[in-house]
Amino acid sequence: MRVGVLTGGGDCPGLNAVIRGVVRKGVNDHGYEILGFRYGWAGVLAGDAIPLDIPNTAGILPRGGTILGSSRTNPYNEPDGPAQIKAGLAELGVEALIAIGGEDTLGVAGRLTEDGVPVVGVPKTIDNDLGATDFTFGFFTAVQIATDAIDRLHTTAESHNRVLVLEVMGRHAGWIATYAGLAGGADAILVPERPFDIDAVCESLRRRHDRGRTFSIVVVSEGAVPAEGTDFKLPDDKAAKTDAFGHARLGGIGVALEQEIERRTGFETRMTILGHVQRGGTPIAYDRVLATRFGVDAVSAVADRDFGRMVALQGTDIVRVPLRDALSELKTLDPRLYETAEVFFG
Ligand code: F6P
Repeated sequence: MRVGVLTGGGDCPGLNAVIRGVVRKGVNDHGYEILGFRYGWAGVLAGDAIPLDIPNTAGILPRGGTILGSSRTNPYNEPDGPAQIKAGLAELGVEALIAIGGEDTLGVAGRLTEDGVPVVGVPKTIDNDLGATDFTFGFFTAVQIATDAIDRLHTTAESHNRVLVLEVMGRHAGWIATYAGLAGGADAILVPERPFDIDAVCESLRRRHDRGRTFSIVVVSEGAVPAEGTDFKLPDDKAAKTDAFGHARLGGIGVALEQEIERRTGFETRMTILGHVQRGGTPIAYDRVLATRFGVDAVSAVADRDFGRMVALQGTDIVRVPLRDALSELKTLDPRLYETAEVFFG
């Protein structure tokens, strides 16, 4: 059998570990031929694929990014996109597809399944906001990078008696901000799930400084929003730009926070936007293991002809869930985790 594999959406540490797992299990245990589509759904639309085998996927386990390339192409935006995909797969003799992606890539996978394409999904996103899986690979690498950044910001904040704002990724969910904030000892964490009141944030920093602390660390998700009726203007210069799935390009709330915190408290404030540093480089061991387990199990799902499903982590087990369950709603932050982080605020 010939099996296709693709990586779509924003890249993420661990993608190559999944690809390696797919190839190793597929070739060794099932004698599959594996074709890697280039640049996500764009490669399937264009019939742009390369044969993957054990020699050409050797040594990729620790490599960041994806050897296949990625894109945010949405075939449902193309005239006859789904029909083109079916025809392209048939032409290449691909009988099953493993789609590694987040909500958008797997959203397409779910729709294609309903249109009769045999797809198995693998959950990927540093944001950790996909439903039906406890964690996505790449998330803990991003958390580690953000935690290292907080540790570094701590020492310079302390040297200069400053407030340091760290903006991290997280379009709809504050998982990275909260995990990294907890691990790094943040004094305030602003997340999309809890619209913030800038007055309350500044008041809490003032109280901290009144108690004799001379510096503070504020971690903010790029998708955090001010509470209704509060006086804080989000940067809107990039709001007009959206991707193929209609998502606005975020980034920059840290700039506004730096200005507002300094203006309101009088504390000298600086900000850092961590951006794509969080998505680059080698995956940590946890993500390599999770990604490998996902890749291997995705091939088992193909062998079982268990299509329309996503491999997922539940507890310590890899299970398979219907793609529609994973996509029905975003997995937002567990309030109990945020409440634990709040114990250390101010
Ligand atoms: O993949 C998720 C994510 O990293 C979000 O946290 C972020 O908003 C977005 O991707 C950035 O996407 P791009 O790299 O396309 O600008």
